[in-house]
Amino acid sequence: MHDISREYAVQMHGITKYFGPHKVLDNIDLDIKKGKIHAVLGENGAGKSTLMSILYGMYSADYGKIYLSGQEAHIGNPSDAISQGIGMVHQHFMLVDKFTVLQNIVLGNETTNFFGVLNMRKAKKKVLDIIEKYGMKVDLKEKIKNLSVGMQQKVEILKALYRGSEVLILDEPTAVLTPMEVDELFETMNSLKQDGKTIIIITHKLKEIKKSAETCTIIRKGRLIDAVNVDDETEQSLAEKMVGRQIKLFVDKQDRVPGKTIFEIKNLSVRCERGIETVKNLSMKIRSGEIYGLAGIEGNGQTELLQCILGRRHADAGKIIMNGKEIQNTDIKNVLDSKISFIHADRHKYGCVLDMTVADNAIMEKYREKPFSVNGFLNHEERDKFTKQIIETYDIRPTNCSHQKIRNLSGGNQQKLVIGREIANNPDLLIAVQPTRGLDVGAIEYVHSTLVNLRDQGKAVLLISLELDEILNLSDKIAVIYGGEIVGEFRQNESDEQKIGLLMAGGKEND
Ligand SMILES: Nc1ncnc2c1ncn2[C@@H]1O[C@H](COP(=O)(O)OP(=O)(O)OP(=O)(O)O)[C@@H](O)[C@H]1O
Ligand SMILES: [Mg+2]
Repeated sequence: MHDISREYAVQMHGITKYFGPHKVLDNIDLDIKKGKIHAVLGENGAGKSTLMSILYGMYSADYGKIYLSGQEAHIGNPSDAISQGIGMVHQHFMLVDKFTVLQNIVLGNETTNFFGVLNMRKAKKKVLDIIEKYGMKVDLKEKIKNLSVGMQQKVEILKALYRGSEVLILDEPTAVLTPMEVDELFETMNSLKQDGKTIIIITHKLKEIKKSAETCTIIRKGRLIDAVNVDDETEQSLAEKMVGRQIKLFVDKQDRVPGKTIFEIKNLSVRCERGIETVKNLSMKIRSGEIYGLAGIEGNGQTELLQCILGRRHADAGKIIMNGKEIQNTDIKNVLDSKISFIHADRHKYGCVLDMTVADNAIMEKYREKPFSVNGFLNHEERDKFTKQIIETYDIRPTNCSHQKIRNLSGGNQQKLVIGREIANNPDLLIAVQPTRGLDVGAIEYVHSTLVNLRDQGKAVLLISLELDEILNLSDKIAVIYGGEIVGEFRQNESDEQKIGLLMAGGKEND
């Protein structure tokens, strides 16, 4: 804890917060100097988002004080925070889909003229000034629903700057970005910093902390562990402070000769909503005991390919074969019955129902089957037993969460439940799409070793990820998808990051 001083943009001292009987923050101190980029690091459920939500006025602390530029601040709600120069970009965006970029930025903070009429021209000028000052490229006329996630995030940042934020909180801003978008974000952060703004970034990616932040606060299970200068730490030392044990940042994997073909795609063509062929004559073969990694930048046909495998989109041509049986153009039930399990990237939209309990989410696909259903009645005991097993195996916290709404779990713990549920189906093929998005290094270590275990049991795994590091680290075979086609295929030992990166960006192998 540092003395209260004007040098610090933000000081939070002795912050304690309970949710019901659970103490989720225990006497936390956070001191951030003006004009710095400060990282907050901690496991899933450590309390990072809660701490930042207190600074942003969404929750109030039960104990503790907040000082801004050396003055005690009372932040009762987000408008208080905004008027005191604090802006936050949340883990899940809060934009209005049908409105344009400009409307979203101005919404709720309209500049009105003498008669109370919205002065859009003046508002637009102010936004354009900010865009130019920090070199952010955004089309103000475009509707939010037509924007990529990376662009939507820029709109959120612009919105905060438009409201005069001096301190900008970014909650896992890179979890949803492509590598190029991440670089752009870091550039924006740097130009904000040059301009004297203070940035607080929550991220699980240690590489990014090393790259962007100067100081870092580490919390574990709601307690302050350390506040460090990033230059004095390595990725390994940060990871170990965070989880409180030794950890492997790279997966241990023995060589293995793959067995028979389990899953095959032959010359598949699929069209997107607008009728454009986004998967073109695509073929792949995944064998037993093999992790097949599909690398690619978002929007290169991955979505349509997946929808087609899951029977949600029609195949114009070609075949999808699982365990020797054709499954193209059937329905999702048939697909699941053919022993395919699926971990979806967007756990909120597809992975779980937020307002149902953890236990009901655990049996979501199976509640009609034995032993969960007996003569049409739900067997609560079996459901709870099954849930408890997943909670224990995957170290989901808090351990007594079975009957809580899954909404109240941290993002990482929600994902662990989805993964546990899907693997409990004992699939022959597991399709894992961005399975570690938003997870902490401890949980990533666990998910990765779970996938490797499945492979060692002779299962097939299709890993689709935007994280090239994850693909390179885990896959036995690596394919690159670009423009709906597989443009290169490598065994793990023949792959190199540069070559794959080039193919992902549309380059040719001998460029
Ligand atoms: N509204 C709520 N009601 C009850 N418990 C909550 C609520 N919000 C969060 N929690 C609990 O508080 C703890 C801290 O959650 P928080 O979301 O701050 O974690 P986090 O560090 O941001 O995790 P992640 O990295 O997964 O995003 C978790 O145990 C979570 O289950
Ligand atoms: Mg969080």
